[in-house]
Amino acid sequence: MTAYRRPADIAALVEDDRVHRDLYLSDELFALEQQHFFANTWSYLGHASQVPAAGDYLAVEIAGRPLLMVRQGDGGIRVLYNRCAHKGSKLVSDECGSSGKFFRCPYHAWTYRLDGTPLSIPLKSGYEGTRLKDCESGRGMVALRHVAVYRDFVFVKIGDAGPDFESYFGAALRAIDNLVDRSPVGRLRIDGGVLRNIIHCNWKMYLENINDTVHPVSTHESAAQAANALWQGQPAEAPKPMAMEQILPFGESYDFFDRMGARVYPNGHSMLGINFSIHSGYAQMPDYEQALAAAHGVERAAEILQRSPQNSVCFPSLALKGSPQAFRVIRPLAADRTLIEAWSLRVEGAPELLFERSMSYNRLAFSPMSVVAHDDVHLFEGMQQGLRGEGNDWISLHRGFDPAERAAPILDVNGTNEILMRNQFRAWVEFMTMSMPE
Ligand code: FES
Ligand SMILES: [Fe+2]
Repeated sequence: MTAYRRPADIAALVEDDRVHRDLYLSDELFALEQQHFFANTWSYLGHASQVPAAGDYLAVEIAGRPLLMVRQGDGGIRVLYNRCAHKGSKLVSDECGSSGKFFRCPYHAWTYRLDGTPLSIPLKSGYEGTRLKDCESGRGMVALRHVAVYRDFVFVKIGDAGPDFESYFGAALRAIDNLVDRSPVGRLRIDGGVLRNIIHCNWKMYLENINDTVHPVSTHESAAQAANALWQGQPAEAPKPMAMEQILPFGESYDFFDRMGARVYPNGHSMLGINFSIHSGYAQMPDYEQALAAAHGVERAAEILQRSPQNSVCFPSLALKGSPQAFRVIRPLAADRTLIEAWSLRVEGAPELLFERSMSYNRLAFSPMSVVAHDDVHLFEGMQQGLRGEGNDWISLHRGFDPAERAAPILDVNGTNEILMRNQFRAWVEFMTMSMPE
């Protein structure tokens, strides 16, 4: 199948206010995404707190490439291809661990320093007089050129095309600031493990739903109704158990979601809930708020706490939640298969309750056994099947469309506007086609 050979064929799939169903169905497009789109964009790889000591590594696959994030002796972080320079064996098979002072290939025992440069080869004399040291294999493991560590969030860009880190994310990085600044000492730590969920749908479908505020009223009706039934009759001032605090707002009205507001940034990024969100009503913690004010000043502390974006998307792979200090990573596996990871963060210098909120939220909302996620997953998998039906090749993204919207680099809109999705697809075309020959 070679239907999509030219950039113009790709661009034709995304119109101003609707997108073609092949974006979710085509294996060929998925292969082209691996080759172009994910090479030209910045993907989230991992958090620096996952590799605290020299020699610690985290192995992650991004767009089919096996990568290793490694803490160096000087405290820095490098990202190497998890591939031996000899015959290509993966250097490590575990997801994370410590390599000690060097990596040793399990196949023929070639060894490498933590920065990937060659250290030793068994039976070295056999290579005398050969071309080994002048060729790629003699130079050791290959390091990625484009790596950025922003407040401990580690991102990579695989290819050389595409913007540098700062120009790619720009003002969208304030979402990471909001998350990290919730720590009076400015530090977060991954803790509590990860929830992984493989969903049989296209990754873009999942990403769109992160920005979709029209669905909770109908999709999560049963979860909200059950929570309401349990909570009915309680006095308004009664303190809510954490699960109630977190689930009840899923039943908010269309009007609530509309008023919460949203913002789009260039390159597909967005922030949903710029005025308030379903996380805004969590119980106050006066001691913590004072500690934050002492660290940042009263005004800045209030600003950090008031802004609890429902979802901030660092396109295409990361979705952050401010107030429950949690985030999701979107890892595409195939046109119709996506791995979703939900991680919890410990906020250093803050009460344990914040971490409990993060763990509780992830369990309640994103675990495969949760009272929320299975509603969405059922719908995603149904859409992936439904889209195979002929008769309508297009997906509607008309809601709130304004022809002038394309001209504004950053735009604030109402919370139910589908511009957040249109914005993602416009970025998708740009990064998919930028390194493709005409
Ligand atoms: S493949 Fe690694 S040493 Fe041979
Ligand atoms: Fe949902």
